[in-house]
Amino acid sequence: MVSLNEVMHDQQGVTAVFSDGTVSRFHGAWLRDNDRGQSARHADNDQRLFDITELPDDLSIEGAVVTDDHLDVAFAADGHVARFPVSWLFDNRYDREHETVLPDLWGAHLKTSLPVFDFSRVLEDDRTRMAWLQAVRDQGFGILENVPCEEGMVCRAAEIFGYVRETNYGRLFEVRSEENPVNLAYTGLGLNVHTDNPYRDPVPGLQLLHCLISNPDGGDTLLVDGFHVAETLRRENPAAFGLLCENWVPFRYRGDSSDLQARGPIIQLNDRGRIIAVRYNNRSAAPFDLPAEKMEAYYDAYRLFAKMLHRPEFELTFKLTDGQLMAFDNQRVLHGRKGFGGGKRHLQGCYADKDSLLSALRVLEAQS
Ligand SMILES: [Fe+2]
Repeated sequence: MVSLNEVMHDQQGVTAVFSDGTVSRFHGAWLRDNDRGQSARHADNDQRLFDITELPDDLSIEGAVVTDDHLDVAFAADGHVARFPVSWLFDNRYDREHETVLPDLWGAHLKTSLPVFDFSRVLEDDRTRMAWLQAVRDQGFGILENVPCEEGMVCRAAEIFGYVRETNYGRLFEVRSEENPVNLAYTGLGLNVHTDNPYRDPVPGLQLLHCLISNPDGGDTLLVDGFHVAETLRRENPAAFGLLCENWVPFRYRGDSSDLQARGPIIQLNDRGRIIAVRYNNRSAAPFDLPAEKMEAYYDAYRLFAKMLHRPEFELTFKLTDGQLMAFDNQRVLHGRKGFGGGKRHLQGCYADKDSLLSALRVLEAQS
């Protein structure tokens, strides 16, 4: 348990020396806004009880005292004392490098160690359920087997961790050969790897696909770890990587009663430079509308990324068999399939949101 060896203060903030030697600076406004005392946070839900506008304009500090495992900070303007458990202060220190935990990047080699879990065990056993959700979070996908080959089970699987996200395709959608297909997915043609629905805002974070009838003559699943390809592009061609991150491009889907449009970058970074999303869908990419002077270089970068997606070392292929169900991160893992002949093939799919999966997983991890 970390403790405080020394505390120094001036009007602007507090400098804390923790028992492990870490020295951290906390500013007056931050300390007052994050007051952990009883008058500042609700006892039951820990939510903040005041608005930032209610604080005095002057948030200069008058004193800082350590009592047992707490730090008390007094403010000059109104004499208010904010209280902080030392361990909380340590966990929330902000003048440091934030660690970037890279996800488990993978490629074709994963074929021999696919993350597969038994459906009944996932339902009954917290640890197995946690392992399935961890696979989706860390590797971008996790497969269930022995899922009953009954219609609608794909929604039941989404309800294990969250809620089905209904769209204009319905609560679930059928992936099988159709006579007048509204989408290439409903033919027997092969499908290039892609992320689904980049024309939505927000893009569905998760997709689930349940195989009810597999085809003996093809229709194999292709998966590509978009984060792995994007990280490789960042290393091999930083300029091309930058173009795909910095410029937003349009996507569109038009159906009988829908006209969905959204813009976004092919590779999306967060404020710390970490890749958080990939959008790639050859079928629904709308005419790019970048400034004329950027178009040529952008297309070079776009074509390079598209070619990299087809590199054999990135392409994971396997056959989703009857009763298998795959949940995957639709903003990381690109999916596609090989073509198949005239025979039957039937999958059902649905979308869900990633935040509820991550929330369910955090709760399970905290209990374990
Ligand atoms: Fe798709």
